[in-house]
Amino acid sequence: MTTTAPLPAAAAYGRLMDQANRHDPYPLFAELAAEPVQRLDAHTWLVARHTDIARLLRDPRLSARDDAPHGGPDAPLGSDGLPFAGPFLSLDPPHHDTLREQTMHQLVPRILGMRPHIEAAVGQLLDAAGGGPGRLDIVESVAYPLPVGVICELLGVPREEEPVFHSFATRLTRGLDPVESLSARQIADLEVTRRDWRAYLLPMIARRQADPGADLISGLLTEGDPAHRMNTLELGATLGLLLIAGHETTVNLVANGTLALLRHPDVLARLRADPGLAPAVVEEVLRFDPPVQMTGRHATAPIQVGGQTVEPGDRVLLLLAAGNRDPLRFPDPDRFWPERPDNAHLAFGGGVHYCVGAALARMEAQAALSAIATRLTAPRLVADPPPYRPTMLLRGPRELLVDHDGITGRAPASG
Ligand code: HEM
Repeated sequence: MTTTAPLPAAAAYGRLMDQANRHDPYPLFAELAAEPVQRLDAHTWLVARHTDIARLLRDPRLSARDDAPHGGPDAPLGSDGLPFAGPFLSLDPPHHDTLREQTMHQLVPRILGMRPHIEAAVGQLLDAAGGGPGRLDIVESVAYPLPVGVICELLGVPREEEPVFHSFATRLTRGLDPVESLSARQIADLEVTRRDWRAYLLPMIARRQADPGADLISGLLTEGDPAHRMNTLELGATLGLLLIAGHETTVNLVANGTLALLRHPDVLARLRADPGLAPAVVEEVLRFDPPVQMTGRHATAPIQVGGQTVEPGDRVLLLLAAGNRDPLRFPDPDRFWPERPDNAHLAFGGGVHYCVGAALARMEAQAALSAIATRLTAPRLVADPPPYRPTMLLRGPRELLVDHDGITGRAPASG
């Protein structure tokens, strides 16, 4: 239900971050979207309407660079000759575009051929859960291991090193939380993890440099114009970005999708009868309960939003999840409706930073949700709502326990 009275700024911020709202933040988002833009503090704005978010994601006056001071007199240089400034998600054009293009060039053709492998991987994860009646944690058994296995396959990381990658994905993802929400101990742990990650990656990169294979890392190191290739720092940052950006997001998509299906047995039954519905189901999960709820930018020039002026240096938070439920854009926005026409959700962002892994995430979620719908007999939620992770930006269940009367069929062996 939508009210028209704006929330006081501090109250809006507090409620946004409040763990008590994590299992269902959507009534709050509807309240926030009653105003096109909310001031959260002297220099922070929150934008919640679909049309404004879609426009601002494409506005070059907003920068994706983060607040962290980069460089210094001794800082290493990036391939653009400027001090190295981190992964391309937090860079602006033109340097962003160069690194993104090289990544896409390697990623897209490899993703295209992955569907059979992903379907086999999902099948094997369900096989491992056994055949008889039982209880399954969808997060631990399917949603979590699937994307790590897939990213290892893409990067050419040997199977025996998958557990190492898995552990890095978990540990590095903590760094996405706002730094204020981390304890001193967690920040120190994160530093150690980042050091360990570099220590793990650098020899791997050196091995590919000496003896390139057919994998994505070798492709980035050896293909294209040598004058514009990523240097080792940029390659390391890009690999970290692919691992982090592609992991917890996909975990949440599979878990949020399973939850939506179990809460909407009519849709579950239709998907079970017709796995061809999976792409539409996944698009609707992306709109209805998106894994990335929000993203942020800084204004580099004055920008008008909803009758307010955002000043240079101000932070702009774009509440993608609220835009996805905007009644001005989506009729009956709180209804989970896979056949919804013109489902132009904001789950993968937009503009120059539009998600490079969208096609892969779609494939993984389509394979996982159709296998869960067709192979689990009489699945039912053990706890509704399930417990959620504390993070606001990447939102999803910590565990999703499902009781079932059996897991049918066995997966074909992977090639
Ligand atoms: C359901 C899964 C996923 C969701 C919801 C998601 C969402 C997003 C969003 C919202 C952005 C834009 C952020 C911004 O504008 O600030 C983004 C960017 C990005 N995503 Fe994804 N993502 C998913 C899966 C993946 C996967 C599987 C990969 C890699 C294999 C990936 C790699 C990236 C990268 C590298 C960027 C940065 C793009 C750029 O800055 O140009 N994502 N993603």
